[in-house]
Amino acid sequence: MNWHDRRLLDLFGIEHPIVQAPMAGMSSAQMTIAVSEVGGLGSIAAGGIGDGRGVAAALALGAAAAQVGTAFMLTPEAKTAPLHRAALKAARDDSTTLTNLFTGRPARGIVNRFIHEVGAISADAPAFPPAAGAAQPLRVAAEAKGSSDFTPLWSGQAPTLAREMPAAELVTQLVEETARVLERMGTRL
Ligand SMILES: Cc1cc2nc3c(=O)[nH]c(=O)nc-3n(C[C@H](O)[C@H](O)[C@H](O)COP(=O)(O)O)c2cc1C
Repeated sequence: MNWHDRRLLDLFGIEHPIVQAPMAGMSSAQMTIAVSEVGGLGSIAAGGIGDGRGVAAALALGAAAAQVGTAFMLTPEAKTAPLHRAALKAARDDSTTLTNLFTGRPARGIVNRFIHEVGAISADAPAFPPAAGAAQPLRVAAEAKGSSDFTPLWSGQAPTLAREMPAAELVTQLVEETARVLERMGTRL
């Protein structure tokens, strides 16, 4: 973290920055180290973390905590729409990309027909925020036919780590998995 980042944190009174590298996943590791090394700040690692290995890796790299998003999207508590749930369940590790088609700004989602045919990043995408509404008629028509071809299917980089179970159980599992990984690491020394 350079002086400019540090000034921004001070300016906005941010005590615990959430650190996510552009490519997310474990590539956020270097940024985690960078942030956690400065001024004793407890940074929160985010992006592609959805199991005990990921949480343990984030902690091992100096993060004070791990933020888990997509992994909760198949829980009954999540307001994930049925078409979105189906896409997440069918997704593979390489199913997501950054796209500006839906909002005018880059955001990560599962590749569908819209992204496939227009290209994930398009100079033709209307500027943020009107882009959000530009594809709406297509989306509505497709969804009425049960298709997510034009639906924004937001997802982090690890949709395969999403688990279909109550959120509280998922939290318990993550804690248990993390403890097991950390214990295993301890016995290797
Ligand atoms: C359904 C969904 C909605 C999101 N909405 C936003 C948003 O409005 N603004 C934002 O900065 N990031 C948004 N994100 C990105 C998350 O903040 C986070 O960066 C991303 O999910 C990576 O973490 P994960 O791999 O644990 O999901 C969203 C992600 C998902 C899955």
